[in-house]
Amino acid sequence: MIFNLLDFSHLPFLHPTTVGGSADYAAVLPKVERKERGVRLTKWVPNTEPPPYSAKYSDYPAGARVDRWMYYDFLVPGVLLMDSGMTPAGAGGQDKHRENAIAFRGCQALTPETEDSTHYFFAHPHNFLIDRPEVTKDIHAGIVHAFEEDRDMITSQQENLAQDPEFKMVPLSVDAALSQFRWVVDRFIEAEQQTEGKGGASATVV
Ligand SMILES: [Fe+2]
Repeated sequence: MIFNLLDFSHLPFLHPTTVGGSADYAAVLPKVERKERGVRLTKWVPNTEPPPYSAKYSDYPAGARVDRWMYYDFLVPGVLLMDSGMTPAGAGGQDKHRENAIAFRGCQALTPETEDSTHYFFAHPHNFLIDRPEVTKDIHAGIVHAFEEDRDMITSQQENLAQDPEFKMVPLSVDAALSQFRWVVDRFIEAEQQTEGKGGASATVV
């Protein structure tokens, strides 16, 4: 689940009717920065197709291209805090000029339930048409639809991996965020083990 949330290049391919967009969106790699408790990803894709799910709420001209951003922190143990959205292409969204933006402030929290299952809590606030509850309901339905697509893919991958417990995944250069976050998690686990060894009950990483 974490790897899925650290690689949004899957959006155009797995979520074509909702949060997708065109394939060029996948080709732009995010900038990845390590933070004390995780990673920060910054992805800015100018002059691209709008995701269908956002396009239907905008009053941009039909067929208009957009600038799209996705800025988020992914933090230990599994919390995603995201600023995402789009403005008409060339409107200055990269400088946080957000006039006429279709924007969201997503928050997602994984809470593992068993060795191979997790709860998945989320909120997806929006900044437009907030006086129309039916729009909020429709956004919610679209997000749930996309998450079900994720669930199908992730479950299949998990079943594949389970067939060969010795299988070792090898990160590619496009997996920088996954590797960096894994590094942070490993440091937390080490610190926790050291603290437990000393009889402590909690851990911090410095
Ligand atoms: Fe997804």
